Amino acid sequence: MRKMIIAGNWKMNMTNSESSELVKSLVEQIGQVENPLVIVCPPYTALSVVKKLLDGSNIFLGAQNMYAEQSGAYTGEISPSMLLTIGTTYVILGHSERREYFSETDRMVSAKVKLALESGLLPIVCVGEKLDERESGKTEDVIGSQIDGSLADLDADDMKKIIVAYEPIWAIGTGKTATPEMAQEVHSFIRGRLKDRFGDIADEVTIQYGGSVKGDNAAGLLSQPDIDGALVGGASLKVDQFVKIVNSV
Ligand code: PGA
Repeated sequence: MRKMIIAGNWKMNMTNSESSELVKSLVEQIGQVENPLVIVCPPYTALSVVKKLLDGSNIFLGAQNMYAEQSGAYTGEISPSMLLTIGTTYVILGHSERREYFSETDRMVSAKVKLALESGLLPIVCVGEKLDERESGKTEDVIGSQIDGSLADLDADDMKKIIVAYEPIWAIGTGKTATPEMAQEVHSFIRGRLKDRFGDIADEVTIQYGGSVKGDNAAGLLSQPDIDGALVGGASLKVDQFVKIVNSV
């Protein structure tokens, strides 16, 4: 059985005091939930504060990015070993905002994925097509090459530790969600691609959907056979919305 996983990507939001307030409410309301597995990904500055408040709950800590080196002269970057020392378990890699605003390529994402795994962090690897790519019928080409490029040189054992997040770029932060059927089609394509590359382990890989997931549309998306959770941006900053999403599994 695949694990259902709901992750909140707080992006560049939340001071430490706002983070504390948010996470205290989450722990109170969904701190003991075991299915789905719940992850929160605060900004780097709030990771330690949030980790302390999560202790004793079932909610896991994730980071939003990392650099593909363990240490050195890389001003402004954060390494996997640093994330591990403060109790981070998961790390989002290759988010479309990283790809778009910080020019991250599949090659860079792949290097990060490999170092994350070697270090003991569990990656959430994001893929997704732009609106014009969808409209010109290139969705599968784009997603297929992102999957191949971002998950290069891995084996089936590595794949057991990876979560894939399908996030159509046109649906992120726009209020436009893919219909459950549209999302299912791509999720099934991704699983097929993983099966070709890694074999039957593909049936065990959690594939999350992301892009304007809210309390009201989560149940429809999560009832699709190949949608195994959600990566939630805007709605993860609102306690009632995020709780509703978690409870709709
Ligand atoms: P959104 O963001 O839920 O605000 O659309 C999702 C994401 O970018 O992970």
